Amino acid sequence: MKIIMLGAPGAGKGTQAKMISEKYGLPHVSTGDIFRANIKNGTELGKEAKKYMDAGQLVPDELTVKILLDRVAQDDCKNGYVLDGFPRTIPQAEVLDKALTELGDKVDFAINVDVPDENIINRMSGRRACVTCGATYHVVYAPTKVEGICDKCGSELILRDDDKPETVKARLEVYHKQTQPLIEYYDKKGVLKEVDGTVDMNEVFNSIVSILA
Ligand code: AP5
Ligand code: MG
Repeated sequence: MKIIMLGAPGAGKGTQAKMISEKYGLPHVSTGDIFRANIKNGTELGKEAKKYMDAGQLVPDELTVKILLDRVAQDDCKNGYVLDGFPRTIPQAEVLDKALTELGDKVDFAINVDVPDENIINRMSGRRACVTCGATYHVVYAPTKVEGICDKCGSELILRDDDKPETVKARLEVYHKQTQPLIEYYDKKGVLKEVDGTVDMNEVFNSIVSILA
């Protein structure tokens, strides 16, 4: 099963992708997490990506597409995956479709987690992220057992550099301009599913499970 998570920054793509990954045994592939791991490790890719991420802009397609195609060509992705944060532009979606078509394959579901902009800023300021295992928390909505420490792997949590309110606003603008058109793109392909992302995260997950079942 090949699933794409669509939605604004902070809509809960990562939260839901992790839950899907655990329930269905599919790898969770997040381009944002891949970039953050590279930044943490000080790689050239990380240095390049950070310039764009800190400004709330998209990392150029040439860089992003290569990383994603390499990742989904790995063995653990043979039976499917959940893509979180990719594609983010129409050209990225076209590259993915072309690569899948060459393998006689296709995207099964594009799930749009719908959350209005008004709810987003509040969510981002309370978010805490684990760069080691990719887990995501929220100080109010999804707190850890020990403050600042990841429940799953024990690493220290970070506040993402791009979660400052000014940067979140820039990311929302970029989202509406460059990523939102993907909703129509996948609707035309007949694989779009919409869920209300404003309700409790377990309720959002139940809606997704009833779509995938
Ligand atoms: P990326 O890491 O993908 O960031 P994003 O799309 O902006 O999305 P977020 O990770 O911020 O939000 P999310 O939807 O995953 O929400 P989450 O589950 O954390 O990308 C970062 C940057 O990398 C981009 O800006 C770009 O520069 C670059 N990049 C990445 N991919 C790229 C690509 N393909 N092309 C080009 N550039 C790319 O939830 C948010 C918070 O809310 C959490 O604290 C969570 O606990 C809480 N929460 C979740 N669900 C609920 C709920 N139902 N109720 C209450 N709280 C909730
Ligand atoms: Mg995320």
